[in-house]
Amino acid sequence: MSSIFSAVSLALLTSSLVSAKCQKYVDAAVAAAENLQSTYFVNGGYGSQQPWIGAVDSFHLTELDDLAGISTHADVINTVFTAWQGQLDNDNSYDDVQWVSIAYLRAGNLAQAQKYYDIASILERPPRLQKCYCAPFDLVPTRVPNHGTQTNELFITSSGFLFDVTKDDNYLSNAQSTWSWLKASGMMGSNGLFNDGLTNVDGVCKNNEQTQWTYNQGALLPGLAYLFKYTGDETTITSAWAIMDAIIASMTIDGGLREPCEITTQNNCNADQQTFKGITMHWMSWFLSVSGRDNDSKYSNFIRSQADKVLQFAVGAPNSYSNLWYGANAGSAVWTASTQASALGALIAAGQQNC
Ligand SMILES: *[C@@H]1O[C@H](CO)[C@@H](O)[C@H](O)[C@H]1NC(C)=O
Repeated sequence: MSSIFSAVSLALLTSSLVSAKCQKYVDAAVAAAENLQSTYFVNGGYGSQQPWIGAVDSFHLTELDDLAGISTHADVINTVFTAWQGQLDNDNSYDDVQWVSIAYLRAGNLAQAQKYYDIASILERPPRLQKCYCAPFDLVPTRVPNHGTQTNELFITSSGFLFDVTKDDNYLSNAQSTWSWLKASGMMGSNGLFNDGLTNVDGVCKNNEQTQWTYNQGALLPGLAYLFKYTGDETTITSAWAIMDAIIASMTIDGGLREPCEITTQNNCNADQQTFKGITMHWMSWFLSVSGRDNDSKYSNFIRSQADKVLQFAVGAPNSYSNLWYGANAGSAVWTASTQASALGALIAAGQQNC
């Protein structure tokens, strides 16, 4: 089935994730993207960043091209992964390859998307080495000890997205079974936010109580939207709203999204962690566009308010953005490829809402 899709027709199929447009944020996003590319994009990479961040950047930029009606970034996806291909093919990480799969699919390259999805999927086979069957993606404890949340949440989203494009039932069934498993896994803490995975305590899989990063909440949202779109299961909406409500209630200060490693006086976040907030905002927007289900503009308002925070607090040199969105910098702000891309994600997400 998939072979009938040319790159062109696939690009058309995936080109309309979002129809609304709030131009002032689109303009800010275009300028932020210019800065990202001119300052940090060298020899097909973003400095020493891990390839998964390049995948996230590619996703942001492909969406921006569609939103702004430009084609400036059409080649980014192909140059980003050339240097990393061997590492990705060698099972470096089962969450990283899913970011790559999603970025390729968004850019209209189904073959590459399926290739990296399939690398991730091999851990779906029956368990062999594990002492504890913690997760579809936590079968080899030495390899993915604490990242059950990302690998599984991404699998729901990447499966849903691939189903949306191909209508191959295997993808929908993977999304459904992984969501069923995740709901019952105990990975969500009592505050309604996902921790970073499971751990094996005397042969029993338990919540590892590790950090509730913002992207642990965001990565799942598009997957829930696709499940809603194709199964009509209203509980996927209830769950997504509850997750977004928990983000708003427990991950903000004065309404501004805060990564748990952030304080205003000193930067304690690494390049990965500096990337998370923009993913969460962009993927919240992705959820809204696929599901069509806001709650009286509550979530689109939240998305726009985060872009406003970015424009107020994170701005440094013109069109250059730091990690710190939630308050005035008192020494913690850093301006890196990751912080720039994260702000870009927030600006694109806001640009995808009605003003
Ligand atoms: C929609 O949002 C309002 C305002 O926050 C809230 O009171 C209500 O419970 C929400 N509805 C659902 C179904 O979550």
